[in-house]
This record gives sequence, C-alpha cells and structure tokens, in this order.
Amino acid sequence: MAARSIPRAFLRSARPAIPATRVALPHGLRAVSRRGYASGSEQGKSSNALLWTGVAGLALGGGAFYFLRDTTDPISSATFQPKPADYQKVYDAVAARLADETDYDDGSYGPVLLRLAWHASGTYDKETGTGGSNGATMRFAPESDHGANAGLKYARDFLEPIKAQFPWITYSDLWTLAGACAVQELGGPTIPWRPGRQDKDVAGCTPDGRLPDGAKEQKHVRSVFDRMGFTDQETVALIGAHSLGRAHADRSGFDGPWDFSPTVFTNEFFRLLSEEKWQQKKWNGPKQFTDKSTQSLMMLPADMALVNDKTFKKYVDIYAKDSDTFFRDFSNAFVKLLELGVPFTTKAEDRIVFKTSE
Ligand code: HEM
Repeated sequence: MAARSIPRAFLRSARPAIPATRVALPHGLRAVSRRGYASGSEQGKSSNALLWTGVAGLALGGGAFYFLRDTTDPISSATFQPKPADYQKVYDAVAARLADETDYDDGSYGPVLLRLAWHASGTYDKETGTGGSNGATMRFAPESDHGANAGLKYARDFLEPIKAQFPWITYSDLWTLAGACAVQELGGPTIPWRPGRQDKDVAGCTPDGRLPDGAKEQKHVRSVFDRMGFTDQETVALIGAHSLGRAHADRSGFDGPWDFSPTVFTNEFFRLLSEEKWQQKKWNGPKQFTDKSTQSLMMLPADMALVNDKTFKKYVDIYAKDSDTFFRDFSNAFVKLLELGVPFTTKAEDRIVFKTSE
C-alpha cells in the first residue's frame, strides 16, 4: 500500500468549502445503518420471477439471460427479462456493499469502481467502433495486465459477490452500473443508465495504449478523448472525476489524492486546480505536482494540461465556480462514456434513473 501523506481520519472528515447539500451526505460512507440492505434472498426472488418457456426466446432489449435448468429436460430453456426494478436491486446491492466495506483505502471502494467503469469504456475508438464497455474484456490478460489497468482487480473482485447474487447480469452491464452507483452514492449527480452490453471473450481485448497516460500533456489528452468522440468541454468535465480517489505508488507510480475529500464527489478538483499554486514535487518518483500550501495533494502532468491549455482552462474555471454546471456536464459526458460502442436495442428515453440509497 502506498505511503499516505494525509491521515485517513482527516481525509474522511475533511469537507470542501462548497454548499453543504453537496457533501453533507456521502452515501457510500453511511456504513452500518444500511447493513442487510440487500439480503441473500435476492437471487431466490429473481428465480421466482423466471419465466420458463418451451421455446428458446429471442433477446428483446438488453440484458436478457438464458440458461439451462437441466440439460436432460426438453423443456429447459429459460428466459429472464430483467426489469428496471431488477437493476435497482443490483444497484442496491452494490450500494450496500460500498457502505459495508469501508476498510479500504480512504474508506470507500467507490473511486476504484468508478475507475473500472471508465477504463472498461475508455478503450473505445470511434473510427473502428472497437473497444468500449461492451465486452468487459478486462477480465482477461492481456487487457487486465495493461499498465493503465493496474489496481483495478480490487474493483473487479469487489463486484464478484454481486455477480454471484445476480448471475443474469453481464459483467459489462455490472461494471458500468457499479460506476454509476459509485458516483451517486458518493454524493455526485444522477447517472441515468441502461442495460444491453454483452460480454465478449479474450479475442475482444483491445490493444494496449488506448487509455490516457498521466505523464503526458494536452496534445495527448485531447487526441485520446477525441478518439473516443468527446469534445474539449466533455473531456474536462470527465476528468473532474479526479475529485474522487487517489493515485497509488504501487499501481500507477503516482502518489496521493487530488483533494481533501477523496470519498465525496465535488468540484474541488477544479477549484484547487485553478486556485492553488502547484509546484513540481521533489521526490524519487515520476513527475507530478503538489500544492504549495499543504504539499499533501497532487496533480498529474495530464491534470495540469487542463490549466495549461487555453480552451481546457475555460471549462476548468467554469466548473471551479459552478458546481451545478459541473454536475450536469459530468453526468451527460459520463452517460455517453458508459454507452460508447454498445449496440443498444433500447432508446435513450429508456434509461433507468436509480434511486440513491437513503
Ligand atoms: C487524461 C485523462 C486521465 C488520466 C491521465 C488519468 C490518470 C489516472 C491515474 C494515473 C490515476 C491513479 C491510479 C492509481 O495509481 O491508482 C487515476 C485515478 C483515478 N481516475 Fe483517472 N485519469 C484520467 C481520466 C479519468 C476519467 C475520465 C475518470 C472518470 C470519469 C477518471 C477517474 C479516476 C478515479 C476515480 C481515480 C481514483 C482511483 C482510485 O482511487 O483507486 N480518470 N487516474
């Protein structure tokens, strides 16, 4: 585990200077009160809802799940058509597990779940239509071993019990749903989400090098996000996710959190980026920046690109001052990210708006 420059207790209690409504209730941290939220009986309930038919049905809409109850039984094909309420149950189970499993990092798996959803989706190439969240190919080497994906095994393993509880959901739907859940539960905006991703096998793995490199600057950042089909404004909004979590020396080589509340989704990343003085950190590690005031926070060279580039900076300044605009723009861009390259049979209007836990 990487060395901590800020005591955990401090990080957990720190609150940024923005309206209390945004940060007072970091849902992912309301641990014990919601224990037992998702009981082990969900699977049983799902099974009761299964529709046994004599004909192999067609997968209408996303997320249909087929399996054989008994291969010797001629009437054995089953189709479970999950409804929005079933996906809400998956959401609730992820949220409950987030609230329960607080003995990790700064107290929440939320940031690493968000990073998993982003890295599963951010391999998309608009020219070839390859990559993206459809497939969940990071389950396999070589993609799981790509340098950019170091540490994401924590997130994949965290979701295994949920997959076991709801075997009908695909990994690719589960990973993206969990990313939406992490944002909502950590106090971020609503992320409307829809199912429809199918898992692929190892042949669907994308080549290394599609995800952005933290050591690089604006030209690289712009070209990677443009390859996915994002505008400059969407690019800046998405990177605002760095208000959550931290870099780990034993994963990316970089070290430290971006702000004082790494388990609460805020616009603090932008406020600190534009208001603090950032200087190059003197250490025996890759080039990164630290804040002059406390020398306890960090920025990647790729984060600094957002203030070194005139167009990017315009959006940094807007989001630093206006949390609501950031929340709205982040939500729109993140919904788009999670859907890149997915052959949906449903419409955008069919997206599910998950109820955040109490
Ligand atoms: C130029 C673009 C980006 C670069 C270069 C970049 C790079 C990085 C690096 C190096 C880390 C540290 C990983 C570790 O050591 O654990 C990190 C963490 C993280 N990134 Fe990014 N990232 C970018 C964009 C994004 C986007 C678009 C999102 C989400 C929408 C995102 C979400 C996160 C989160 C939540 C973490 C914290 C993970 C944790 O705490 O375990 N990043 N990123």
